[in-house]
Amino acid sequence: MSVPAGQGLLLGIESSCDETAAAVVRGGREVLSDVVRSQNDAHAAWGGVVPEIAGRGHLDAIRPVLQEAMTAAAVRPEQLDAIAVTSRPGLLGSLLVGTTAAKSLAWAWRKPLVAVDHLQAHVYAALMSRDSWEFPYVTLVVSGGHTSLYRTDSPLAHTLLGATRDDAAGEALDKAAKLLGLGYPGGPAIETAGAQGDPRALRFKLPMLGPDSLEFSFSGLKTALLYTLKGPGGRPEQPDLPGTAPLADVCASFEAAVAETLARKCVRACNATGVDRILVGGGVARNRRLRATLAAHARREGLDAVFARPEHCTDNAAMIAGLGHAHWSAGRLAPLDFDVAAR
Ligand code: KG4
Ligand code: ZN
Repeated sequence: MSVPAGQGLLLGIESSCDETAAAVVRGGREVLSDVVRSQNDAHAAWGGVVPEIAGRGHLDAIRPVLQEAMTAAAVRPEQLDAIAVTSRPGLLGSLLVGTTAAKSLAWAWRKPLVAVDHLQAHVYAALMSRDSWEFPYVTLVVSGGHTSLYRTDSPLAHTLLGATRDDAAGEALDKAAKLLGLGYPGGPAIETAGAQGDPRALRFKLPMLGPDSLEFSFSGLKTALLYTLKGPGGRPEQPDLPGTAPLADVCASFEAAVAETLARKCVRACNATGVDRILVGGGVARNRRLRATLAAHARREGLDAVFARPEHCTDNAAMIAGLGHAHWSAGRLAPLDFDVAAR
């Protein structure tokens, strides 16, 4: 199945967490502009996203980001076919900034509005990396807020196979980075610090949750790291244990445990469903060790693994405009008074 090219020019808007983004995409694929303004620096001091700061950051950024996206695409408002925006899930105050901007522009420019699910958009980001699609896929969405496996039968049809019982993989990496005194966001910080490390230095027990489970649980891995650093019980007053591995090895080993768990679960989901193609999207999918580990498992098992392009793994609006095109083509429009949903 391939997308008809040259049809449907959409402006996409994303503001669900701490990236303000706008993009213009034609036909669900051809990215004419793709502007992302990250708030990482504003949240770094707090070691995580502060909702109040995020909302205010979006308010400051939304107008210039929108302007830049329209200018870079060299598109006039009247050329647009629709405006797509993330309506769920995410931080309430953050979602409201993007959706209010989208509603205002849709009203002023008399354009149809499309409300997009952020997680489905992460899946679409992976689809955007290929010229043609062969459904069904087993899909892994692995981000700061979510770690879920789906069976995907079209850009708009996803059946949940399993999700995390506690922390998302990105959340586990962010918390691990905090324990290790590394910066926010934790995923890239651990990737950099562990780049030269030995992934076999520390053997973390992989949280596979029994032989058939398609669920995830990463909080135990984080506790195991804490005990590795501070000793049994993880008491902070206890001095670091003598002989603890170098930081690079700790980071590489922790990252490898997360990557290996995710890869094995993808293979397990393929075996359980009889599907032989894997789609991978979400911020953590940017991780090079995860991409290499998953690709190696897929090769061994005769599976095809499709990853979102690195720049489209983390939050962006190209994936919102892209998925918005699928909704728009199917006539799935949203009224001007649609609501947002945090969960
Ligand atoms: O998709 P995303 O931008 O936002 C959510 O929808 O959550 O994902 C953010 C998450 C954070 O937890 C961040 O640490 C992680 O993605 N992340 C990475 C990398 N880049 C971002 N994790 C591992 N390696 C990376 N290179
Ligand atoms: Zn996201």
